[in-house]
Amino acid sequence: MTEMVTAQESPAPLVQVERLCKTYGGERSLLGAAKPQLRAVNDVSFAVMPGETLGLVGESGSGKSTTGRVLLQLEAPTSGDILFKGSNITGLSKHLLRPYRRDMQIIFQDPYASLNPRMTVGDFVSEPLIVHGVCPNRSERQDKVAALFRKVGLDPAFMKRYPHEFSGGQRQRVNIARAIALNPAFIVADEPITALDVSIQAQIVNLFQDLQDELGLAYLFIAHDLSMIRFLCHRVAVMLRGRIVEIGPCEAIFENPQHAYTRALLSAIPIPDPDLESKRHPIAFDVNANLPPQSAVLEPVGDGHFVLRG
Ligand SMILES: Nc1ncnc2c1ncn2[C@@H]1O[C@H](COP(=O)(O)OP(=O)(O)OP(=O)(O)O)[C@@H](O)[C@H]1O
Ligand SMILES: [Mg+2]
Repeated sequence: MTEMVTAQESPAPLVQVERLCKTYGGERSLLGAAKPQLRAVNDVSFAVMPGETLGLVGESGSGKSTTGRVLLQLEAPTSGDILFKGSNITGLSKHLLRPYRRDMQIIFQDPYASLNPRMTVGDFVSEPLIVHGVCPNRSERQDKVAALFRKVGLDPAFMKRYPHEFSGGQRQRVNIARAIALNPAFIVADEPITALDVSIQAQIVNLFQDLQDELGLAYLFIAHDLSMIRFLCHRVAVMLRGRIVEIGPCEAIFENPQHAYTRALLSAIPIPDPDLESKRHPIAFDVNANLPPQSAVLEPVGDGHFVLRG
């Protein structure tokens, strides 16, 4: 059973980002010419509730990964705030951030690049336990890692093997085992299935869902396309050139999209029925001709459903 708290109980958000901005460039080179500035994340605000999956979608370069990295303080924001369970964690020192690190984890797109090729996968999964002083007893730690392997659908007999001995899906399971080792409350999953075979993608998505049900995890689930998002997410945020142009409950975004860019994204999803697919008309969206002005704001258009207008 999912532990997602319903709106009637007016839950406190687990994670909030408020007016988050991340700008790259702008600094002067030795010859004095300033690099052009790029607003990778531009005035982004949203909240993630405990046990909830918020999908983050948008074209390549729209700022999804940057949002995830800055949210987890892997990079400093240019401005804006990040709150975790109501505490402002923006700009905390490494030392003060440490307890929050346990609670907030990340899973990347390329399961092989995230693994250490010279470390057995068992050691890789036990590393955060050692770093955070959890399970100092070696045999207890081995038991804990074996349990984590079982939880993500891997045989604990594989613990002594190296990453190259695994398939892509199994490697991503290893990454997931490490991410949940410290019982986090929140995981940023940055395109965690994009690099996997289509046949494996659904298995990994199911694993994310099972772990959410069992552990009450909340996810920021970053994806290029919307088809898996519909299956997995409670709410969806659509990003365009660093801004959120629409955010709302999954059903509202799919059934009643308000922003032209959201409509274009939805129209690009292939339909698995040949008759319907032949009648599908992708909607064109010219980003450069339709860039939202900086003054645009998210306006309510339905229950929890907002669209950028101005
Ligand atoms: N470290 C960096 N230095 C300079 N520019 C960067 C840096 N990281 C990202 N960018 C730029 O910021 C913008 C947003 O990048 P980001 O990786 O967040 O997009 P994305 O939505 O995750 O794209 P994709 O779907 O391709 O993963 C891009 O224009 C990118 O080139
Ligand atoms: Mg990305």
